[in-house]
Amino acid sequence: MYKKGIAAVLYNTSTGRGVPVYMMPAPSERSSRMLLIFLTLLVAHSVFGQQSSGSVNVHNILQQDSTTHYEDGIPNSLRRFIRWAPKAELHVHVEGTLEPEMMMRFAERNGIPPPYPSVQAARAAYNFTDLEHFLQIFYAGCAVLRTRDDFYELAMAYFRRAATSRVIHAEVSFDPQTHLSNGVEFDTFMGGLVDAAMDAEEQWAITVSYIMCFRRDMPLESAEVALRLALPWRHRIVAVGLDSSELRRPPRDFASLFDRAAALGFKRTAHVGEEGSPEYIWQALQLLHVDRLDHGTHCLDDPRLMAALNASRVPLTICPISDLQLKVYDGQLQERLGQLIHSGLMVTVNSDAAAYFGSYLAGNYEWLSTAVGLDVRQAARLVANGFQAAFSLPEGQRRRMVDTVRQLAEAAEAEDKAGGKQGEADVEGSSRRRLLTLRG
Ligand SMILES: *[C@@H]1O[C@H](CO)[C@@H](O)[C@H](O)[C@H]1NC(C)=O
Ligand SMILES: *[C@@H]1O[C@H](CO)[C@@H](O)[C@H](O)[C@H]1NC(C)=O
Ligand SMILES: [Zn+2]
Repeated sequence: MYKKGIAAVLYNTSTGRGVPVYMMPAPSERSSRMLLIFLTLLVAHSVFGQQSSGSVNVHNILQQDSTTHYEDGIPNSLRRFIRWAPKAELHVHVEGTLEPEMMMRFAERNGIPPPYPSVQAARAAYNFTDLEHFLQIFYAGCAVLRTRDDFYELAMAYFRRAATSRVIHAEVSFDPQTHLSNGVEFDTFMGGLVDAAMDAEEQWAITVSYIMCFRRDMPLESAEVALRLALPWRHRIVAVGLDSSELRRPPRDFASLFDRAAALGFKRTAHVGEEGSPEYIWQALQLLHVDRLDHGTHCLDDPRLMAALNASRVPLTICPISDLQLKVYDGQLQERLGQLIHSGLMVTVNSDAAAYFGSYLAGNYEWLSTAVGLDVRQAARLVANGFQAAFSLPEGQRRRMVDTVRQLAEAAEAEDKAGGKQGEADVEGSSRRRLLTLRG
């Protein structure tokens, strides 16, 4: 299941801007044709708004990639669409992209005892019973992050991996209170994160903004301190969020904090309805006035809420493999996610804490496709929703990306019609069941 990814970056030499491309090993004739269509769209995208098209060089980045891919059993056209479609990622915690190798390295160079004796021991520990269990392990990992370089390298490693999932726009969450309480100054971690955002924009043409998440399990005063310290960095922090333990910590406790953040010009999002009830989703909507919901999957338990979300088009950033690993709707997850995807709500797909859950964005789309039986058109709607729901994309680019996604989907569908349904037979069978019961 572990594949090495090869990402190529197209550089427009007149602008120095690169566009990442995921390339499949040994492409067949059909996939070459699709790659050609795709590259044409990409080059058009990369030179958009520039005076001169310049010439294009191809640089390869060989990447050791621990991401699990769930491509077995997915029709070829859909698999290619998932790999090549440009994507936005709206729900990913930078601290959650700390791979065990990096955790060990940072622990050593910072003179901190590593949370695990080895990389293997770390991965073995990532077998979660629920959100609470995950959070304990997650915060233990955060303790190795100390210096500006740590945060820079952490974020760069995420952006490099995101590029292999063809992420071209990322709105990345971070937890200031965690680092402040570990004795790291705000400007230290924010400086590293912002430097990485600028370098990622240069190297992989990913546009980046940050979402500052308040921790609902920590005192309100520490959230207020974080909000004050964030002000000099407002140009890079597009929104505030709310994360950590959900149960017994109602969003209403954070209403005045969110009001203040809104008055300062921040957009608002909140983790609700991951483990918590629909009541918490109502509170996030009515008392925190959120622009998006992180997870929100438990809206399924309240038809009136479903209808309200459908009418208002408030986006949900769902994280399929996170739900799988944290046993959300345990035993019924596929069925529930299927209901949500097919409900018509504004749903987006995301990776959450990718290093802990074993899969980055493309892997989440692959798993979801098999789990709920997506076709190319439905996958394309989810990808386009990511751009529609983004906080910090200029309107023109949003429209262009939605258009590009639609054209790619049409090209993939045309291939299916021309070339038959090759690959669909794979959807059935034992590999499917094996993949869906991951650590099951
Ligand atoms: C994960 O933990 C469960 C018990 O909670 C255990 O039954 C299972 O074997 C573990 N899986 C792995 C891969 O260690
Ligand atoms: C959402 O709205 C669409 C279009 O109005 C409708 O077809 C769909 O059934 C609605 N879904 C829910 C859950 O209300
Ligand atoms: Zn999250």
